[in-house]
Amino acid sequence: MMKGVILAGGTGSRMYPLTKVTNKHLLPVYDKPMICYPLQTLIDAGITEIMIVSGRGHAGHFLELLGSGAEYGVHITYEIQEEAGGIAQALGLAELWAGDDSVTVILGDNIFQDSIRDDVSAFTGGARIFLKPVPDPNRFGVAEVKDGRVLSIEEKPQEPKSDLAVTGMYMYDSRVFQIVKTLKPSGRGELEITDVNNEYIRLGEMVHTVLGGHWSDAGTFDSLIRASLLVQQQKKEKMQE
Ligand code: G1P
Repeated sequence: MMKGVILAGGTGSRMYPLTKVTNKHLLPVYDKPMICYPLQTLIDAGITEIMIVSGRGHAGHFLELLGSGAEYGVHITYEIQEEAGGIAQALGLAELWAGDDSVTVILGDNIFQDSIRDDVSAFTGGARIFLKPVPDPNRFGVAEVKDGRVLSIEEKPQEPKSDLAVTGMYMYDSRVFQIVKTLKPSGRGELEITDVNNEYIRLGEMVHTVLGGHWSDAGTFDSLIRASLLVQQQKKEKMQE
């Protein structure tokens, strides 16, 4: 079975003072709170068991917004990341809940247009990442791809080897939790999801999808407004169809 994890931790310091009295992942992206978009991506993929990992600040607000998930036809479980220790550390908190199941992980500030339903159905183990060509790859994890295979991922490289950003959506089998336990904190003092992905590459068990639709993060002032405009544009296009 495939379960879904939304990672909504972190202190939101890059977006202060918007994040002084609420959580970054609850800020509006056009007409919905940010976290509703990754949640919808999981729901559209047919995933019904979903965990939200958030930090302590304003954690109760997620529960108030989304409740048990019944309204959306899914079951939502909540977990708390006590201190900001990175994306991989937050994912590690889902270990007991995930058990032997695979997980689709989405960062709570990533907004995707594409459906991942087929990738979820086809998943049989190992890992899958989702890449998107961008004009500013040095803001992201960057994948080096050759002959259809990902050779390596570098986190925010000064000299990117390609324009392919590693977006904040990942599929892993349950071995991911053992891998997380082997990680050492990076220069920014965090357990990096890029290190997890590089381990799957080393094992020869990483595949990738290049996304055709729009993707944006929404974790900075500029990307937040860009994400809102993107959603507005998509809504308009849908209405004209
Ligand atoms: C994180 C990941 C990075 C990825 C990005 C996508 O960066 O570390 O590899 O490309 O999310 O949004 P962060 O937002 O934590 O700096």
